[in-house]
Amino acid sequence: MERTHWYRDRVFYQIWPRSFKDGNGDGMGDLYGVLEKLDYLKSLGIGGIWFSPLYVSPGVDCGYDIADYYHIAPEFGGDEAFDEVLKAAHERDIKVIMDLVVNHTSTECEWFQKSRKRIEPYTDYYIWRPARPDGKLPNNWDSEFEGDSAWEWDEERGEYYLHIFAIKQADLNMDNPLVREEVKKILRYWLDKGVDGFREDVITYISKPEGLPNERLLPVHKGVTQYNMGPHLHEYLEEFKTEVLDDYDQVTLAEATLIKPKKALSLIGYGPDKVIDMVIQFECQCADCLLTDYIPLPFSLRKMKRAFRNWQVKLYGKGWNMLYIENHDHPRMVSRYGSEKFHDESAKTLCAMYMFLQGTPFVYQGQEIGMINWHPENEDMYEDVQTRNHRTHLPTKRRLRLLWRASRDSARTPVQWTSGKNAGFSEVEPWFYVNDRAKDINVEDQEKDPASVLNFYRKAIELRKSIPVVKDGMYTEYMKGSGSFYVYSRDDEKQSLLVMCSFKGHSRNLKVPAKFDLGKGKLILSNYDVQDSGRVIKMRPYEVRVYLFDL
Ligand code: NOJ
Repeated sequence: MERTHWYRDRVFYQIWPRSFKDGNGDGMGDLYGVLEKLDYLKSLGIGGIWFSPLYVSPGVDCGYDIADYYHIAPEFGGDEAFDEVLKAAHERDIKVIMDLVVNHTSTECEWFQKSRKRIEPYTDYYIWRPARPDGKLPNNWDSEFEGDSAWEWDEERGEYYLHIFAIKQADLNMDNPLVREEVKKILRYWLDKGVDGFREDVITYISKPEGLPNERLLPVHKGVTQYNMGPHLHEYLEEFKTEVLDDYDQVTLAEATLIKPKKALSLIGYGPDKVIDMVIQFECQCADCLLTDYIPLPFSLRKMKRAFRNWQVKLYGKGWNMLYIENHDHPRMVSRYGSEKFHDESAKTLCAMYMFLQGTPFVYQGQEIGMINWHPENEDMYEDVQTRNHRTHLPTKRRLRLLWRASRDSARTPVQWTSGKNAGFSEVEPWFYVNDRAKDINVEDQEKDPASVLNFYRKAIELRKSIPVVKDGMYTEYMKGSGSFYVYSRDDEKQSLLVMCSFKGHSRNLKVPAKFDLGKGKLILSNYDVQDSGRVIKMRPYEVRVYLFDL
């Protein structure tokens, strides 16, 4: 089937279902809630939804531990509710992509239950290893979620199995052709149902190297340099593409840990070797930490700019970017790269900063109103398996402060729809804590205020879709060394779009790039009233201005 690359003209919205909206009054977000809010998403200008996992799952990792790939969890409304949402979304010209989690399954999945009993054909569906004669574990790989080894002993089978994530998330053996057949069956099943593509969870981990060699480079996350981008990754993705995906006009989005543009182009680069449409890179998440949110550093604007520049420049004309600043795996951006003090201003700057880059933007639920981090009183209030299992030697208070800053749960509190009871998320007590900032950060209030963050997102999305230079224009950056401003333009033969963002909490003068005369441009988006248009302009705290020039 001919690919139309429709995803390049749309803005996506990520729904993390448990916390989006409760529609059936049981305290947990579900598909009935999504149905209620589709018109809201449409009004925001959204053209696609990425659903974090909706499948049947014991919920150890909030759905990223799938027990049944063919059914929607009853707590989300089951298969019928999903069919309804899919239909209603398509009626509104909103595409729907699913999360495909096939690096691992839940240990409650039937395949694992049979594999541990050596029932054929499931015996080799997972990565099993016997105990070594010296009593040591099969290798030195770490679990990303358990704080120690990635190997778990299974009494029933009398062997260890590999779990890069939680103990109940067992890694599949993708080298087994039968497992790859299962993946293709799953892809086909959902595509035939009408979904429009997949976000592929930690897909760069699916090919483990022969002999499972020890990690020799890293002291943490041991193993990742061995199994990330493994030897058969391209081959397996190509198999999925040629045997299934090519029959549909769909999109694939690969989560890709530690990936750099050059490696990414081996997967997404235009040409015959392309096996994926876009990657989710992590560089843009590392401007205030070292590789992981759990090793915090002060925010560096230069580092953030370097990350975006790297991908904008190196993919230009060669591959398509996926653009995001938030998702369910990282704390909220206003609290990280912006400012809670200058809440509205910085939320808007962050929006414009990435919305006009080249690629397909994704907005994570609650980001469009500038939701901020959650500060629970004690660490028992955290739900997330990664947060709960994070090990440090810090004293209790400092540990709690680290979690405030690093935990994924900050992005997982219920969406703040109103300032009222349970933030309008549910009639009954929600499954998880509501951030008490719902009082002043919520959709209902922002709907009424034309100058709200929400309405700024609406406008930015509308502009992004209607201005051609945003899609294909060249990226040029100015003042690269500045620790105060992010300034770039997007240019083609007919138009130039100039984006100027301040990341300072006080006013500072900005020298407008020489090639632009603001007096000749049109100010199309800003977060303050703008009077001046000279060569040097005063940028107020977290001010952003976007100008369009017809050439
Ligand atoms: C990446 C997902 O985004 C994250 O939420 C999950 O915990 C891990 N992969 C394991 O599936």
